Amino acid sequence: MPIELRPVVESDVRDFITWRYEPPYDGYSITGNEAELVEYFLSGKVGCHALLENSELIGFCTFGSDAQVPGGDYFQNRLDIGLGIRPALTGQGNGRDFVAAVIEFALQQELPLRVTIAGINERAIKVWEANGFRQTQNFEAESEVMGTRRFGVYERD
Ligand SMILES: CC(C)(COP(=O)(O)OP(=O)(O)OC[C@H]1O[C@@H](n2cnc3c(N)ncnc32)[C@H](O)[C@@H]1OP(=O)(O)O)[C@@H](O)C(=O)NCCC(=O)NCCS
Repeated sequence: MPIELRPVVESDVRDFITWRYEPPYDGYSITGNEAELVEYFLSGKVGCHALLENSELIGFCTFGSDAQVPGGDYFQNRLDIGLGIRPALTGQGNGRDFVAAVIEFALQQELPLRVTIAGINERAIKVWEANGFRQTQNFEAESEVMGTRRFGVYERD
């Protein structure tokens, strides 16, 4: 089944903010006030999109500053990407396809792509590298973000 992307609607956000990842990925679970999160992810500046397979919500992604971690060097004009797949669908060897669908969509923006990944998240690093991303930075976040401080920046033309 092909994976489609479209801008999120409120029901998507109310769904994905309940997703909970198991350690060591639990930092990627979204927490906070529900009403504020809904407003945040629906606001255009986050560029939040739903990933759909067979019309079912299987993940979401964001574009722009939401996908940056304070402490990294984001001076160069790139399209930053954040991604979360429904927890029950993770760890089954489909990561490469999820990421490829997001890349295909993001390339429409005609900007080089960039992703920031926690150093502990070897699973994510593998799938982005498998899709042609290469590490360009390794930095310490200004404060703890998602329960960790060490991050890498990966880029692809
Ligand atoms: C990151 C994410 C997209 C990866 O998708 P996935 O479907 O879970 O990934 P896969 O099951 O295909 O695993 C990817 C690779 O990591 C490997 N892997 C899994 N767990 C691992 C671990 N603990 N250490 C090292 N490698 C690991 C797999 O074996 C696989 O390698 P292969 O391609 O050589 O077979 C998904 O897990 C996710 O959304 N996670 C939560 C949010 C997140 O981490 N976002 C990343 C920020 S961009």
